[in-house]
Parts: sequence; C-alpha cells; structure tokens
Amino acid sequence: MDAVELKKGIYWAGAVDWNARTFHGHTYSTARGTTYNSYLINDDKATLIDGVYAPFTGELIRKIRDVMPPEKIENIIVNHIEPDHSGALPELLKLCPNAKLYGTAKCKEGLQKQYYGNWDVRVVKTGDKLSIGRRTLSFIEAPMIHWPDSMFTYCAEEEILFPNDAFGQHYASSERFDDETDLCALMEEASKYYANILWPLSGIIARKIEEIQKMGLPIKMIAPSHGIIWRGDPMKIVNAYASWAKNETKRKAVIAYETMWGSTEMMARAIADGLTEAGVCVKLFDIALSDRTEVANQMLDAKAFVIGSSTHDNGMLPSIASFLELLKGFKPKNRIAAAFGSCGWAGGAVAEIEGMLKEGGMEIASPPVSAKFVPDASELERCRGLGTELAKKIA
Ligand code: FEO
Repeated sequence: MDAVELKKGIYWAGAVDWNARTFHGHTYSTARGTTYNSYLINDDKATLIDGVYAPFTGELIRKIRDVMPPEKIENIIVNHIEPDHSGALPELLKLCPNAKLYGTAKCKEGLQKQYYGNWDVRVVKTGDKLSIGRRTLSFIEAPMIHWPDSMFTYCAEEEILFPNDAFGQHYASSERFDDETDLCALMEEASKYYANILWPLSGIIARKIEEIQKMGLPIKMIAPSHGIIWRGDPMKIVNAYASWAKNETKRKAVIAYETMWGSTEMMARAIADGLTEAGVCVKLFDIALSDRTEVANQMLDAKAFVIGSSTHDNGMLPSIASFLELLKGFKPKNRIAAAFGSCGWAGGAVAEIEGMLKEGGMEIASPPVSAKFVPDASELERCRGLGTELAKKIA
C-alpha cells in the first residue's frame, strides 16, 4: 500500500498489520488486526507525527520515500512513546539524524529509558506551538490517555487533530477513512478499544473532552494512531467517547459464568430468560470459552452484570476469578450486579463473587441464587425470577 494523501501535503505513512491477533502482550485479542498510523507533513520543515511498531519500520520508510527522501524530515512529533508508535525511531533517526524530536517531559524521560538513547527531545506543554512553514502545530498534553507521556497535536490550518491512541481502533483495512469503510465494524472496534484500554480512565477522558470543547478548536478530521481516520463524521467518535466516559448504559445485561458440569449454565440460561421476557437485551458468555476482549466490549454499555460460577475448593472457578479481576480494573461506574452458581455441598463461589463485585464498585441489586447439584424446576424458577427482578432495576 502506498502513502495516502489526507489533505494536500499531508500523508498517511503508516502500516497495516493484517495478522496481529493479540496486543499488549496477549491481553487484547485483535481479530481484525491493527494499523500503526504515522503522518507526514510536507511543509517548509518536513514533519512526521508518530511512527510505527519496529517490525514495520521498512514500510514506514518506503512510504516516506514515496513523498520525499527521509533525510528531509526536520521534526518528529512523538505523541506517545509506547513501542507500537516509537519502535521505528532508532532506525528512522539513522536516516534523519538532525531531526528534532518533540514530546512531553514524560515522553523525553520514557524515550531515553526505552531506547537507552540520549536523544535531543524538545519538551512541549499544552499551548506550545511549532511553526513548520505554512502550517503551525499546537500541542495538548493528555496525560493518562492513556500513558503519562500521551499528547495530542493539532494543525489549525487544516483543522486536523492527531490524538494518537485516543479515538483509535485495532482495525486492519484497505480503506483509510470512515466514509469508505463498514461503519458498524468500525464502531464495534472503536468501542472494543475504549472498553479494553480506556474504560478505567473515563474520568480523565471526560475532562479532556470538555477541555478541548472549551478551546473551541474546529475539527474537520481526527487522525488517530490506530485504524481508520475520521473525516466523514469526526463528531461521531467524539460523542461516543463522551457517552462511554460518562458510563452511560443501555437496557442491557451481560451474563458471564463458568460451569463444571452444566448446572451453572442451566441457571445462566434461566436468568437470561427472565431478563429477555422483560425486554432486556442479553449477552451470555461461558467465560472459559469466550474472548474476554469481546466480553469487555459488551459490558461497556450494559447496565447489569450477572456473574456465576460452580463452587470448586470452596470458591469460584479460576477463569471467572481472573475475569472478575479484569472487570474490577475497568472501574465500571453506575452498574448493578448479581451473583449465582451451583455447588455440590458446602458452596462458597457465590459469596466470593458478590465480594469481588462489591470491591469493584458495583451495586448488588438482588440477593444471589444458589442451587445444589443439578438445579430443579423451583431453583430454575428462582433464577428466572432473578432475571425479572434485575430487569425492573434496569432503566
Ligand atoms: Fe497504541 Fe498506547 O499505544
């Protein structure tokens, strides 16, 4: 794929990683692959905004050469130091050794530690500007969206925001723009990205969106560092972020459980029946068999979480236990929850689940339901009743 011109003189020079199947180690499953977006501005002082993951350095350099010799690059803006964006820098800097790097103070500190290099990084803060010729770039610090070094870059003449990871998606595609691609798939990947990477940072994100709105920057295009560029309707993703950041939910419940011999699964299905009959959208997952990245995505706009496990060694099963640890880390707000599960004799899983849900800040909206061995008709009716009860509490 060649460099793609976004606006006259501004090019996408990134790489499409069609075969990426996991990200952040193996914590995030990327079924649709990903992209690493780098942007080259051909102005009096040629400027590159962000780079790519090291294995794709050759692709970045080839795309830069489509537009100009790499040695012409005078400025490199490092919005974020994570290796998926900074990995190409050591090789790239060999081709343009006089290029000046720009980033936040945390960026400077992190680059030196990550690459053992005493690179000349010019530290910039919110409000600082860099004239590159016909255009001026302004910087907006964005700490913890999603690392301490994170920064956005804005080009006023073109009305383009380069927000690095924010508004991105792990989405490999031959299309580069929102008005060219499958919008349903795009929004699904955008919400998956938010749920799995940004959800715990929602308070910071809500404040940053307000801060940028107050700046009154006209934005015609949002060019993130992963996935599709928003030009058809850039406010669509900003509004979605504003909603996710406020933890807004739908009339929806996610039932996640782990089962040994199928009894807890029978209970899960009966709870789903109660919720469904009352008109609640239900997503049901056996967590031991499910893609956790997708489960988190489904939880992002669900009001109720219903968590179940068989009892094993007086507690819950290991897959659901580790999933609950993950869920606590997302710091969901304004959610209701309930626990359920089967046991052979002493039990213990249901109390453990309730404890973790409370620790994670979720409101226990209904007493738990337990069943011994295989649930009988009356126990299944109690499960269905739990679904009905929760449905009444889902606005
Ligand atoms: Fe895409 Fe935080 O790196």
